[in-house]
Amino acid sequence: MSDLTGQVALVTGAAQGIGAAVVAALAEAGAQVIASDINPIGVGAQTRAIPCDVSDADDVARLFYDIAAHEERLDCVVNAAGILSEASILETTPEAFDRTIGVNLRGSFLIAQGAARMMVPAGRGRILLVASELAYLGRADFSAYCASKAGVVGLTRSLAHELAPHIQVNTIAPGPVDTPMLALENMSQDWIDKEFDVPLKRIGRPEEIGALARFLCGPDAGFFTGQTLSPNGGAVMI
Ligand SMILES: NC(=O)c1ccc[n+]([C@@H]2O[C@H](COP(=O)([O-])OP(=O)(O)OC[C@H]3O[C@@H](n4cnc5c(N)ncnc54)[C@H](O)[C@@H]3O)[C@@H](O)[C@H]2O)c1
Repeated sequence: MSDLTGQVALVTGAAQGIGAAVVAALAEAGAQVIASDINPIGVGAQTRAIPCDVSDADDVARLFYDIAAHEERLDCVVNAAGILSEASILETTPEAFDRTIGVNLRGSFLIAQGAARMMVPAGRGRILLVASELAYLGRADFSAYCASKAGVVGLTRSLAHELAPHIQVNTIAPGPVDTPMLALENMSQDWIDKEFDVPLKRIGRPEEIGALARFLCGPDAGFFTGQTLSPNGGAVMI
């Protein structure tokens, strides 16, 4: 297991689901974890919680100001905040499209920018974004979501070039993971059948994404940058 003792990490979207699992995984590896979310965060593995809407530039500026004021370093930033939105192209309003892009893509940009502003002067750091297998697959009625996640993959590759060699930027693009976002009890049988019809015949567990984040933030991932890693049960093979 990666040893992150002495490192300081920031995780957004930390109140539940994948973000909460990433907080637990990084803390278990010895990192001091700052957890952030637009919603209140329960007591968990994090050392402290800072509220922030990742789509709001002022909020993100406040988040990094707080970190810079209270921490001596920032080693890893994992942006797991995100929203899912379902609507046909005929029904998607420009406002709904902007909101999805705003949280998932603009949020990734703002968090990566805030991280880079602290990491570039320090000459080191890891930035980890979260896309989705749907960046590759596309899905009817999820055009805004799929576009936002494809944007995250492009953002990752560009930042990996720009911030190399001292700062590494990667993305996790999971298949379906058992979190409140997916809420299987609200899904149609058709949807569930489709999600399970992959080579590994199951959906992912949040801890599996947490373990990958821990690896990508740790010493064994020193040769990864600009990569999109896809824990997806074999749904997409690239
Ligand atoms: N669960 C899946 O099947 C799945 C698959 C692929 C990708 N993803 C991606 O993984 C990430 C985490 O998803 P999850 O399944 O844990 O979802 P989730 O809904 O369970 O958790 C998302 C968290 O992000 C927070 N959040 C939402 N908007 C925010 C904002 N503007 N600012 C700050 N925090 C905000 C929520 O409050 C919540 O705590 C998302 O980017 C999602 O798109 C999830």
